Amino acid sequence: MGFLDEIKRRRTFGIISHPDAGKTTLTEKLLLFGGAIQEAGAVKSNKIKKTATSDFMEIERQRGISVATSVLAFIYRDKKINILDTPGHKDFAEDTFRTLTAVDSVIVVIDVAKGVEEQTEKLVEVCRMRNIPMIVFINKLDREGKDAFDLLDEVEQKLGLQVTPLSLPIGMGYDFKGIYNIWEQNVQLFDGEQKQTIGKKAHFDSVDHPDLEAAIGSKAIQNLKDELELIEGVYPKFDRTAYLKGTLQPVLFGSALNNFGVQELLNCFIEIAPEPLPKASEERVINPQEDAFSGFVFKIHANMDPNHRDRLAFVKVVSGTFQRNSPYLHVRLDKKLKFSSPNTFFAERKEIVDISYPGDIVGLHDTGNFKIGDTLTSGEPLHFKGIPSFSPEHFRYINNSDPMKAKQLAKGIDQLMDEGVAQLFTLNLNGRKVIGTVGALQFEVIQYRLLHEYGAKCSYENLNVHKACWIEGDEKSDAFQEFRRIKQKFLAQDKRGQLVFLADSAFSLQMAQDQYKELQFHFTSEF
Ligand code: G4P
Repeated sequence: MGFLDEIKRRRTFGIISHPDAGKTTLTEKLLLFGGAIQEAGAVKSNKIKKTATSDFMEIERQRGISVATSVLAFIYRDKKINILDTPGHKDFAEDTFRTLTAVDSVIVVIDVAKGVEEQTEKLVEVCRMRNIPMIVFINKLDREGKDAFDLLDEVEQKLGLQVTPLSLPIGMGYDFKGIYNIWEQNVQLFDGEQKQTIGKKAHFDSVDHPDLEAAIGSKAIQNLKDELELIEGVYPKFDRTAYLKGTLQPVLFGSALNNFGVQELLNCFIEIAPEPLPKASEERVINPQEDAFSGFVFKIHANMDPNHRDRLAFVKVVSGTFQRNSPYLHVRLDKKLKFSSPNTFFAERKEIVDISYPGDIVGLHDTGNFKIGDTLTSGEPLHFKGIPSFSPEHFRYINNSDPMKAKQLAKGIDQLMDEGVAQLFTLNLNGRKVIGTVGALQFEVIQYRLLHEYGAKCSYENLNVHKACWIEGDEKSDAFQEFRRIKQKFLAQDKRGQLVFLADSAFSLQMAQDQYKELQFHFTSEF
């Protein structure tokens, strides 16, 4: 197969949802159709459950599993599908946001009973801002839930989307009879059996099929016809260009657990979802079809073996091909590097790969060369944009509890920050180190990992910070100088040496913003 065909057949996407909406179950069922697993249950443990924060071993075990399932690849109808895992736990949301920089589209899973939940709102907002094509899957139709039309309204209002239903449920919960597939124009009947494998379902190729009435009753048929008419009148027709631009979102219904509506989702997905898309770098837009290789690191994962302190850097191939043992330019370090054992991912395995194409994810063993956001190329000094670093919401002083291990502690902190676990700020006033995280769970993870991977002990001390803001402005201006002088106590530097204001309250932040209008207050470090 030629280079261009290899690109065309790739679909790289992420599944996003509020925890418990059914992301893991859906992922599993997709793998089942791809023949990548034989029976559901294999990916189940792929999530940081609502673990008690003190259960470190559990966190570690799950972190280990999540390396293996960071990328799940399978072939379906000759398409190479790469699913990038996004942790559902809100304390790991930052990881999810970064992973979204490496997907070409997403599937949003919503629980029919709970509707749009908080985490879904946050994640969809990011996708919306970046115009990522989205398909919405409303899950758990076997349960009693909200009315389909109310849900479509809720999705439009809370998520700010313009939806077009591509399927419609017939009944719900106890009364769930099946799904009308608007996309393929046929009816699938639901038999209520929980399916761990692929089975055959009763299928009618039209609402007017003579046997359909016997199966679901005339009332349900009439209802369905009325609803289809309503849909035609109210919702725009599916338009692929609008979907690809991120201005129209198709919605499908189903039950992942029962393996119902999943294949329909997959069939629709491979037909409409985009192949690898061009990506903007600071210098220019890079097309996947370009001969020269380029890619970027969107995730770094520490290896689980404590004796082997190497890490796996996940690189999304943007253009050209990534080849084993070829020298590539590490742009930030301005250094050529070769990789003798790059990994590819297939279902839950990882294997050494000789060549990878745009859309693919390559896992590179790293001994400390990589940071999130780093670019690798065939030689051109490119910098990919859009890897966000979020404003942390929890802050603590970090102290060294073992003076003999100061070096190990510094190294451990340095590497964990490169992995993107948290952010480190150094106070201008006294040089004290402050760790800022998006979730509270990270503090425990950091402490545990520093001890087990670096042999360093740390303790935390509370400090009162409301928000971290990156400050930008004309450093020579009077306003900047005055701000520096007056807010001295609250100023710090991040790892790159950027000035950060650690505001102690919403009020003082607002005051500072009002008072120093010449300065820009950014809530992420990417500006
Ligand atoms: P997540 O990754 O989004 O967090 O969700 P996950 O797939 O783990 O699903 C959360 C719960 O919802 C699981 O139940 C799962 O079995 C259930 N579920 C998923 N899809 C469906 C569906 O279509 N119908 C119904 N009725 N339930 C569904 P659990 O009790 O938390 O876990 P388990 O004991 O089943 O493993």
